[in-house]
Amino acid sequence: MTDFADRVEQVSISGIREVFEAAGEDAINLGLGQPDFPTPAHARRGAIEAIESGQADAYTSNKGTEQLREAISAKYDRDYGLAVDPADVIATSGGSEALHLALEAHVNPGEEVVFPDPGFVSYDALTHIADGTPKPVGLREDLTLDPATVEDAITEETAAFVVNSPANPTGAVQSEADMREFARIADEHDVLCISDEVYEHIVFEGEHRSPLEFAETDNVVVVSACSKTYSMTGWRLGWVVGSNRRIERMLRVHQYGQACASAPAQYAAEAALTGPQDQVTEMVETFEQRRDLVLDGLTDAGLEVPTPEGAFYAMPKVPEGWCDEVLDRGVVVVPGDAFGANGEGYARLSYATGTEELKEALEIIDDATRAVQ
Ligand SMILES: Cc1ncc(COP(=O)(O)O)c(C=O)c1O
Repeated sequence: MTDFADRVEQVSISGIREVFEAAGEDAINLGLGQPDFPTPAHARRGAIEAIESGQADAYTSNKGTEQLREAISAKYDRDYGLAVDPADVIATSGGSEALHLALEAHVNPGEEVVFPDPGFVSYDALTHIADGTPKPVGLREDLTLDPATVEDAITEETAAFVVNSPANPTGAVQSEADMREFARIADEHDVLCISDEVYEHIVFEGEHRSPLEFAETDNVVVVSACSKTYSMTGWRLGWVVGSNRRIERMLRVHQYGQACASAPAQYAAEAALTGPQDQVTEMVETFEQRRDLVLDGLTDAGLEVPTPEGAFYAMPKVPEGWCDEVLDRGVVVVPGDAFGANGEGYARLSYATGTEELKEALEIIDDATRAVQ
């Protein structure tokens, strides 16, 4: 009988799903990784018009429509003053596919990929799928990734390191100084920096900066998406930006695995990127208010929690048995070890949930915390 491939046997379905399954029907779900806002109407309309006119019926160019790639290029100019050639962009099926392309195109069997632990679950899994060796590294006390830790972890075998700011599951935002260091490390050690920027617009203090702004070589590729910024997780539209030679390699994986991103989603994304951005501003303001609410609630319950400066997650340190106690009382949170071994003793709370529900959940958390302390 044909056996399964080792690289697939090393990957399991994310532990997050198990938590959801254990929760009752009426549970308040603080486990979700997607904004609780509608996709902007003008983005939906972009897809509807493309469908009705027949424009979305056929394959697009493998990299995505010229208009979408121009819109992505204009976004990098607007946000970071970066000149990105539309030819150096691939529209992908979400940020997830973009991460997959970056790893598949750059990691040889056995080569190491350094990434944050706790960190987004895909980094470990996609490294295995690319036949690489995961090298998770711990975070600072404030849950940011120290460039020195990354530099120490780099060996002759390192193919890439992943930076994720604002971060899932911590909500931490890397400083400009850190981003400059990541760019320097990529340049000096000649390793690829994969910068996962899917939460780039959800920042409460200061601004998101990208290592792409500071690198002197082409050793940075950037992954982003419409998913979080425009509340478009279901549309599956992201992208990867890199130098032409890197895009050309990633395109080989994309062309045979995907052909092109879904055409209706491409038209929706173009409309989202070129249309009014006020809904993004409003969403970020709402997240900031909820962040403050959650921070106060957790601190009042006696938990220690670094102030998250972006995304829509908080990651408090929690006593043993806390996650089960909270879940038993009807609030879904994700145990920190679902994001890596160093996540043990933490929990991830998403505040992509209505304010009233959040208040109710925080009261339950307060009681649960007293019960286990
Ligand atoms: C850090 C991070 N990167 C990438 C992704 C994937 O995003 P997408 O839904 O665009 O595939 C997520 C989704 O949760 C994420 O949290």
